[in-house]
This record gives sequence, structure tokens and C-alpha cells, in this order.
Amino acid sequence: PAPAFIESLIAKMTVEEKAGQLTLMAAAWAGSAATALNPPSAGASFAQQLDQVRRGQLTGVFNGNGAEMTRQMQTVAMRESRLKIPLIFAADVIHGHRTIFPVPLGEAASWEPDLAERSARVAAVEAAAAGIDWTFAPMVDIARDARWGRGVEGAGEDVHLGNLFATARVRGFQGKTLTARDSVLACAKHFAAYGAAEGGLDYNTVDVSERTLRDVYFPPFEAALDAGALSVMAAFNELSGIPATGNAWLLDDVLRGEWKFDGLVVSDYTGDEEMIAHGFAADARDATRLAFLAGVDMSMQSGFYLQHLPELVASGDVPMARLDQAVRRVLAVKARLGLFDDPFRRADPRREKAVVLSKPHRTLAREVARRSMVLLKNDGDLLPLAKDRRVALIGPFASGQHDLVGPWCVYGDDRQAIDLATGMRAAAARPDLISVTEGSGIEEPIAGGIEAAVAAARAADVVILAIGEGTRMSGEAQSVTETVVPAPQRALAEAVAATGKPVVVLLKNGRALALDGAVAAAPAILVSWFLGTETGPAIADVLYGAYSPSGRLPVSFPRASGQAPYHYDHKPTGRPNPDGPLTEYKAHYRGVPNSALYPFGHGLSYGRVDYSGLAHAPQLAWDGTLSVRATLRNSGSRAIEEVAQLYIRDRTAGITRPVRQLKGFRKIALAPGEAREVLFTLSRRDLMFIGRDNRPIAEPGAFDLWIAPSAEAEGLHGRFELAAG
Ligand code: IFM
Repeated sequence: PAPAFIESLIAKMTVEEKAGQLTLMAAAWAGSAATALNPPSAGASFAQQLDQVRRGQLTGVFNGNGAEMTRQMQTVAMRESRLKIPLIFAADVIHGHRTIFPVPLGEAASWEPDLAERSARVAAVEAAAAGIDWTFAPMVDIARDARWGRGVEGAGEDVHLGNLFATARVRGFQGKTLTARDSVLACAKHFAAYGAAEGGLDYNTVDVSERTLRDVYFPPFEAALDAGALSVMAAFNELSGIPATGNAWLLDDVLRGEWKFDGLVVSDYTGDEEMIAHGFAADARDATRLAFLAGVDMSMQSGFYLQHLPELVASGDVPMARLDQAVRRVLAVKARLGLFDDPFRRADPRREKAVVLSKPHRTLAREVARRSMVLLKNDGDLLPLAKDRRVALIGPFASGQHDLVGPWCVYGDDRQAIDLATGMRAAAARPDLISVTEGSGIEEPIAGGIEAAVAAARAADVVILAIGEGTRMSGEAQSVTETVVPAPQRALAEAVAATGKPVVVLLKNGRALALDGAVAAAPAILVSWFLGTETGPAIADVLYGAYSPSGRLPVSFPRASGQAPYHYDHKPTGRPNPDGPLTEYKAHYRGVPNSALYPFGHGLSYGRVDYSGLAHAPQLAWDGTLSVRATLRNSGSRAIEEVAQLYIRDRTAGITRPVRQLKGFRKIALAPGEAREVLFTLSRRDLMFIGRDNRPIAEPGAFDLWIAPSAEAEGLHGRFELAAG
């Protein structure tokens, strides 16, 4: 039950004021991020928006700008509105507020959820000081189709990794207690299966079985809610014929009924209105009724709830009790954020100034950035580089204050980030050892670019080829048909490789890419995603060996774009054709093996790790545990970190099971020559899946297990039985 003061507030509210409490709009404050990223809020000026606040027509605004704005608006709400209900300020704080961390997909490549918790904490500290109470993050959508641009905002293709990062990010944002002035409310989005859009086309139809929803797409949401996330955003997509925004099964039966979620559900940006285009709602009134009765408490940006809920209540189409229930949820969340006790608790211009981009925050950003890079290849130990080598930085990302903070960065500013050339010059033995040549634009060639790049390569000992995707090539509405490095940059790579100089490909990317030609053939490839504020220093740390790369892929890099959607935990077919020579009338693409070029979990360090000594009992008792041990030895000459990964396969089951599934991992430090044991503990819970009746089930029988350095490496292989209960 809501606190008594909430009930008495509801009793005093008019129907219009109730509809206002369920209406969220983009901030109209001049210069606010919303005006740059989104259409201005229904054309309202800031003065008009303040007037709406006075009249109780808004619950809050999103993507506004800074403590000054939020304090000004809150002051109007608290002094001039009839019921003095505090506003809530929301924003897309996705991978940092002003100190920008790697894009979430990149951060997931660290395989260190604790790190994500710490970066989310910093984001919360900075955002809260700017008056933000609520972040529209984390995005916990499992994304298995690299064509979809929004995979960059999540934790990749795997459920286990996705669960851990969902938990960590919620904890980081919400802190120890939600009332703290440096905590922000988390929002698990986009519910549900937004990442399963057909053809990887953003906003497209999703048609997946209830079993797959429960097995793959739901678990990270459950993890986020278990970690305490008190808000959920409904997805734009339809789900097997019913838009998520109007899907009562999803929002009422599953989310609130089964999972007992007692926070608030917000639509995505005009998600209710979009049900008209989906062909599900006849008009604005109908869309309002459908979204509201399905369980969407708060409408973002369409203004539909404010316009139509009062009349829907008057006509009896929406019961007043349902309206009160939604208002109660919204007010309860505001109360849990401490807004009724002190509506100004977060916004503090002085604290804002002190914390944003502070030294400790930038130090953490560098730490996360260097831990997020993935070394795909390092033939002949080309990396790390000696500091006295002449280095040609070539490519559109070699230098300049652009494409550093990356996609979906409302408040991040490339001008406050450190670029590659600056980072390299600061770390090299002498700054003049580093030359910079653009060579190519991101998607267009530049006149004389290749000639200049070839000359620069010839004059250097080694080339760092900084190529890949620009900021606008991944993220919302940035679907692609080919997940490749743009053609002009591939041409640049061919020309530079032809000089015979050793080339390190430094990829910038928001998705898994299909690499080919000189890019794939380069002796060293380092995936750097979008690393944020400390891009340059972090990359220099890795290239010069101050830090041995320790990231592992959270998404599989396919051999060809046409393999999409490629994910390691696919089901076996009746005619499997595993990696290797192709056989007719087996499941295969002509000319392309059925495996990834670089699979999920892959990543090298500057050492060599030997796996040995797999040990486990042959049987797991129904209510028991199985200890699985192995020894990892660093036979190289540098201190490194290794990520040992535990995978299983259920040999035979009532529902077919994936060829491998990640069930645990350990990231451990290994000094040169050091050997350490890793221990995993499996229980029946780890072997469960969604059965024929769409409920979790475990079946006794035979399982494979692997402790391996990636999802497709053989590693150490064993078998065990789950004994009947
Ligand atoms: O939070 C986002 C969402 O992920 C996509 N549509 C817009 C929202 C608010 O900016």
C-alpha cells in the first residue's frame, strides 16, 4: 500500500491532474539536449512548459539540461502548482553523464560487471548533481543480429552475461538507497524483445515464441528487477501481433502478475501514438485506452494521456480505480526517490560543477576503457609496441575531436575527450614519432587520401590503422544490411597493407563487424568500440603495453554479414555441418563455414595461457552441486588477465537445447609463469530451461561441459550426468 499521504493526495486530485501525473515530455529548455536530439516538446516553449507545470499537466520532463533548469522548474512546481507535487527529471544517461565511459557493448567486453557497476555509479553521481532523478537505462535487450544498430546500448548476445550486466548497472545507478541525493532511478528497457526485430531493422516486427521470450529475452529484465529497478520502458515493437505498448499479457500478466513488479511502466517516445501506425489502434483515443489498460502508467512525449484520459474516464472506458492505481505507482516512485521529502535533493549547481569530469571520474573512465578493448589477433607478437618506434596513425579516427564519446550520449562532448593522436603522443618516447594521416573519410574517400597514407606508412616502422564505424552508424534507427567497414576505408586498408609495413587494425565499432581483405589479414586487430572521454590514453596504454588487453567479445564477429543473426548459442539442426569442410545436404552457406571468424568470448592478451587439469565428478545429484576445476598457466613473459569460461550443452532434452551455453566465467590475473586454479560450481538451477508448458524445468541426463577461452574453442571438455531426483 502507498503511504497515507499519497492516498490523500490522490483524493484531492482532479482527473486532469491525474492525467498530468502520467504525462512526461521532452524538456523545452533552450539548449537542452532534447531540442537537439528530439523534436521540440510538442512545440512548447520553456515558458509554456512552466505553465503546464503550474497547471499540474506534467509529471516531469526528460533530457533537459543541468541543475539550473531542473531547480527552476521544480521551484514552479513546488510554489505555484495547486498540489505541489514534485516533478521528476529523466534523461538518457546511457554510458556516463559528462564523463563518458565506453558504450555499453564495449563495457560488456570487459566481462567485469563490477566495473559496470562502478561506471554506472559515477554516471549517477554526475547526473544526480545535474538534477536528474531517473535514467532511461540500462538497456537489457539481448541483441543477436548485428544489423540492428541498438546492440551498442546493451551487453551483447548472451543471456548469462546480459543478466550480470543488467544487475550491475541497476545497482550502480540506484546506489545503496534510492533516496540518496546521488542515486538515480534505473529503467530496464525495452520490454520486450526489441532486439529481435526481423532483419535487424529497428522498430520492425518481432515474432518469437513465448518459450524463447522466457529463455532468452526475459531473463535480463528479471535480473534488473531483482536488483531493484523500479521502472520499465515498454518497447516500440509489436510482439507476435500485439505492440508491446498495448500488450496486457506482457505488462500486466507477466511483469506485474508473475514477477510482482511494483514500480512504474513508461512508454517509449510516442510508443502509444505509434500503435496507430502499427494498425492496432484506430486513433489517439483508442491508442490511449489500449496503452493505459495494457499497463503503461506513463506516456512519453505524445501527450495522449493528458488529452484523452479524462474523457476516457468520463465515458467509463477507463475505470477511475485504474487511473488512481497508475497515479499511485508514479507517486510511490517519486516518494521512493525522496522527492516528497526534498524535491531539490539532487539538483545542486555547485556539486554539479565539482563532480562532472572530475579527476577520479576520468581515472575510472580510462580504467574501464582499457579493460573494454579486445585483441582479436596478434601475429608475431606485433603488439605491444616499443615506445621508440615511428608510428603512422592512419584513418578517419586517427585524430580529432570526433567520434570519441560514441552513440547515445546526450550530455557527453567529444571536445572534452582525448583523441587517439593526443594519447599516443603523450605515451610515445617522443611526440614526433607519431604521424597522423586521415587517408579516408568515414563513408567517402578523400582526394589524395590514399597517396598520403601510403607515403606516411612508408616513412614509419608500424601503422596503426584507425578505421571502422562513425558515431552515427550505430544506435537507434541505424540498421544496416552489411555489417562491414565502409568501402573507402577498406580500400585504404588494401593500399596501406600493400606497402608491406606491419599494420595494426584499430577498429572503432558499435556492433560486431564482418572483416575481410586487408582488414582481416592484418597481423594485429584491436577492437576499441567507442571508448569515451579517455579514448586516446586508454588505447595508448594497450598499444604500448602499459596494460595487457583483457576484453573478450560479448558478440560473435561473423565471417560474413549474411550469417546474421549469428550467435554462438544457436540450436543444432538435424543436419549439422560444424566448422570445417562443407558437406552437401548439410546446413551450410555456400563458401562460408558455420562458425564465427572471432567467436563470442574470444580475446587475446600479451601472454600465452595453457588450460589443463579439468576435474569434476561424473554426476550432479538432483539437489547437489558439481565442482568443476581447471588450471590456467601463463606461459608468457608478461602479467596478464585471462577469462576462463564455463559452457554446457544438454545432450538430449524434451526441448532442443543450444550447442553451447555460458554458465560462468572467471577473470583472473596471472603473473608470468604463474598457474592458478579456477573453480566453478554448477547446480540444477544452471541446467534449467523453459519446458513444453513454458515453465522452467530441469531434466536428468547427459551434459557436456567445457572450460574454454571462447564459445567456439575446444578448451577442456568433460561430461557429466544430472541424476534423477
Ligand atoms: O530512452 C529512449 C529510448 O531508448 C528510445 N526512444 C527515446 C527514449 C527517450 O529518449
